[in-house]
Amino acid sequence: MAGRAMLAAGMTEKRLLVVGAGTMGTAWARMLAEGRAPGVAPAGVVDIDGARALELANAVGCRAFGEIATAVRETRPDAAYVATPDGQHRAPVEELAALGVPVLVEKPLATTADDAEAMAEAVQRAGVHAEVNWLQRWNPPFAEAARVVSAGELGDIRLFNGRLNQVVSSPGERLRWSGGTTPAWYLMSHLLDLALWLGRKRAVSVYALGGRGELSGRGIETYDWVHAIVRYADGADGVFEACWILPDSWPAASDLGLRVVGTRGAAEVEGGQQGLALASERYRLPSVLQWAPQRLAAFLRAAEGRGGPGASFDDGVAVTKLLVALHRSLESGAVERVV
Ligand SMILES: NC(=O)c1ccc[n+]([C@@H]2O[C@H](COP(=O)([O-])OP(=O)(O)OC[C@H]3O[C@@H](n4cnc5c(N)ncnc54)[C@H](O)[C@@H]3O)[C@@H](O)[C@H]2O)c1
Repeated sequence: MAGRAMLAAGMTEKRLLVVGAGTMGTAWARMLAEGRAPGVAPAGVVDIDGARALELANAVGCRAFGEIATAVRETRPDAAYVATPDGQHRAPVEELAALGVPVLVEKPLATTADDAEAMAEAVQRAGVHAEVNWLQRWNPPFAEAARVVSAGELGDIRLFNGRLNQVVSSPGERLRWSGGTTPAWYLMSHLLDLALWLGRKRAVSVYALGGRGELSGRGIETYDWVHAIVRYADGADGVFEACWILPDSWPAASDLGLRVVGTRGAAEVEGGQQGLALASERYRLPSVLQWAPQRLAAFLRAAEGRGGPGASFDDGVAVTKLLVALHRSLESGAVERVV
């Protein structure tokens, strides 16, 4: 409906190829099919798991494909959204870039510095617009905090204090590959990107500690939590927490907060509270704000050469390199340099 209304108003409908038909690919394809991203429709769904691609494509009214080249040739999408697991972003991004398709890839860009740099080179070589889906940059309180910081109201940013935690059923039941990642890659990456985006600071070293036991007791070999202290080149620093074992009785889907302190002021975002509290069988703080449509619209505008650079692959490379050093520190118990 929304797409037809845009066409009636003389605007061209955009068509997005969804690569990866899992949790995120399904959420985004449904967002398009339900008209929640006005003027954007699903062009097709690609998944190496043919049954999964077909199920999602049928649900959202487009065609299913087992490989990218055929999907691009037959659907001619305006852009692609890549939602494969963290360590499997490189091959689809390189293939789409070589085919000249603008790419919005899920966070984190990659889980090795080699992969991240290769992807940044691939999109630059091909001359295609490419961004990382650091969705929290479009979360309204963070977007407003960024506007205030960039206007200079807080002065020079000196420290960050952030946390992003989830209930234990998230790695325990919902995420299929939690044993192959960590709360730092999956959750803390958002905080490290927010700090990079808000402060525009280069991370030089990191010290991290983590604990195990609860998740491994459930057969999921990963950290229960990770704490990190990051030092930036100008002497600022940040303390970050990512925990995956909050009890399922926690009232919000995630426990998200970030404090930014500058020389002239401070900002504090409490992301778990979105304005609605419900108390019946149990007390809960439901998610009511939606910002994925705005994020997608910004990417599509930038892909057309309108609007800013967005969440660049260069920022994605920087966050990946910081996370690689962070995981070295988790193993070595020492402060590690970001290289
Ligand atoms: N931006 C956010 O707020 C946010 C939130 C959650 C997850 N994520 C990210 O989204 C990405 C996807 O996570 P998910 O939970 O949807 O994963 P998922 O496991 O549910 O789905 C991934 C899908 O990709 C498919 N796949 C794997 N390799 C492929 C390939 N080469 N080509 C095509 N399909 C392939 C798999 O078969 C699977 O269906 C991850 O990087 C994750 O960190 C981002």
